Amino acid sequence: MAIRMHIPRNDADWQAYYQFRWQQLRAPWQQPLGSERDELEHQSHHRMLMDGDRLIGVGRLHQLDDGKAQVRYMAVDPAYQRQQLGARLLTELEQQALVLGCTEVVLNARDTALGFYQRLGYSMQQEAPSQFGIAHYRMHRYLRLPGSVEDWQRRCQQLQQSWHQQIPLSRFMQLEIAAFDGTELRCQAPLEPNINLHGTMFAGSLYSLATLTGWGLLHLQLQALSLQADLVLVDGHIRYLKPMQHKPQTRCTMLSAKGDLTVLRQGLHASQRIKVELLSADKVVALFEGHYKALLPRRTQ
Ligand SMILES: CC(C)(COP(=O)(O)OP(=O)(O)OC[C@H]1O[C@@H](n2cnc3c(N)ncnc32)[C@H](O)[C@@H]1OP(=O)(O)O)[C@@H](O)C(=O)NCCC(=O)NCCS
Repeated sequence: MAIRMHIPRNDADWQAYYQFRWQQLRAPWQQPLGSERDELEHQSHHRMLMDGDRLIGVGRLHQLDDGKAQVRYMAVDPAYQRQQLGARLLTELEQQALVLGCTEVVLNARDTALGFYQRLGYSMQQEAPSQFGIAHYRMHRYLRLPGSVEDWQRRCQQLQQSWHQQIPLSRFMQLEIAAFDGTELRCQAPLEPNINLHGTMFAGSLYSLATLTGWGLLHLQLQALSLQADLVLVDGHIRYLKPMQHKPQTRCTMLSAKGDLTVLRQGLHASQRIKVELLSADKVVALFEGHYKALLPRRTQ
């Protein structure tokens, strides 16, 4: 049976929801019933993951004052862990944060969950108060990168220029950056120089357009975070759903970029998975997922 996302609505839902929270997040540390709730429940956004009638995961998001939102009470049933369900819950809450107009998501992570959040794009900020003897750390991720419209225009111009100079194929394809607002990057290329014998876009050109779009989002993030790295694609998958018949465009968002880049500051290579949609007249015709590495720049002697 397909696992589905659900918003608790009736008494039975709420009872199951809080019971699950208590069982997963409080009972193992001998905390009483009631300790699984706080005063913000009414003004929060709640999600449940259901396998048929069985509740298998929960998460909550509430808005803070300063354009931020906070995730709390994330848990997945141990029998269902490591199946991308925690990631699905977190992405759903991040989408809710975007709907609320938030630019950043923060959370206090248990030390045992640090790796999970880092894989999903969160970086550590500082120690947070411990709870029931469990060390916690403040983490955050941007949904919109900090910077002004002028910053983004200038950086996109520079990026397009460096593509055209250093990657000749991008020049032949006439690849352009169409827009970036700190959240969503759009690139485009005319059909003519990228056409195949069917009169639609050549699959290899589609792949290149998608690869560079993901690469571009990674580059813009590093610039916003004042980080330097050499970028390489280490794995990529594309699904061609329909022919590209109209002016090709790509779209990828900060939400789809998963992986903590700030580990570069600790002298470690970083990596990110980025999803890119390929659009023909605003309809999705292909889906790309790239695994990129941001390598520490090689030292010059
Ligand atoms: C943390 C938790 C919600 C993760 O849920 P999950 O469904 O197992 O996570 P996912 O399968 O979606 O994992 C997404 C990625 O993170 C990785 N990951 C998951 N848990 C991890 C952990 N504890 N440490 C390091 N990496 C982890 C997965 O391997 C996966 O990586 P991949 O995409 O490269 O394969 C779950 O382990 C849990 O409920 N733990 C107990 C309660 C808890 O600690 N909640 C968090 C409170 S702050």
